[in-house]
Amino acid sequence: MIKVVAPMAGITNADFLKKVIPYGFNVATLGGYSLDAPTIDASKKIIERGRSEFDFPLSEIFTHIENEVESIKKVHNNVKVSANVRATTAQPIIDVGNIKDLDIVEINCHCRQKEILDIGCGQKMLNRQDLGDFISDVVDNVNSEVSVKIRANVEGTDTLKLASLIEDSGADYLHVDAMKKGVFEADWELLTEICNNVNIKVIGNNSVNSQVNLQKMIDTGVDGFSIARSVISGNLDFNITDF
Ligand SMILES: Cc1cc2nc3c(=O)[nH]c(=O)nc-3n(C[C@H](O)[C@H](O)[C@H](O)COP(=O)(O)O)c2cc1C
Repeated sequence: MIKVVAPMAGITNADFLKKVIPYGFNVATLGGYSLDAPTIDASKKIIERGRSEFDFPLSEIFTHIENEVESIKKVHNNVKVSANVRATTAQPIIDVGNIKDLDIVEINCHCRQKEILDIGCGQKMLNRQDLGDFISDVVDNVNSEVSVKIRANVEGTDTLKLASLIEDSGADYLHVDAMKKGVFEADWELLTEICNNVNIKVIGNNSVNSQVNLQKMIDTGVDGFSIARSVISGNLDFNITDF
């Protein structure tokens, strides 16, 4: 079972990940990071209104990620390191995917902060006509594996069709925040349907916050699960090691 520390901007740096990996995770996600002028500018605006974000200038971000990867690998050599990233074009994402020892580059098609949506990134990527080509461009030009993180049930999108498109684009992982409006649990039915329809490795995300919900997530047929808010304190108060 793939067990992922999900990205939390401003929080999931190497020091944080090294602390929580021992709870039983085998993939640790750095980021989300902004990689070009428009996304870095959007991050700055998000910080100005008080939300946590990583804040690195263009001149430092790639070296920073490289150092963070090395810092984790030194202590947890058997854990895959992923970097969740946002950019308006594929090239900066390709550059991250070629960072030495980075195992997975994750294309963020998930963020719904207004400043990110305004520049066509994050969740807005799901509406791009060329999303498949964008992902394939990354897949074809990186040494790492490629994950695509999406939000489910976004108005105006068909999550099942997106799952197939992402599979066809050659990505290695489909990371699904199976959020469902008005419900405080993941959309277990949709995750089951996705798993029954695609062969790409599916990482299920959202509301894995107890032994009961972890079991519900496993029962959908996912290849792995990810956890964000339940580790935000640096502790995990249920057991993930039995899977
Ligand atoms: C403070 C915070 C920051 C987040 N930043 C990111 C991010 O940068 N990129 C991303 O793909 N998801 C981000 N997320 C979403 C989480 O990765 C995850 O999809 C979401 O919290 C649902 O999972 P959970 O129920 O385990 O928390 C963030 C979540 C939180 C709480």
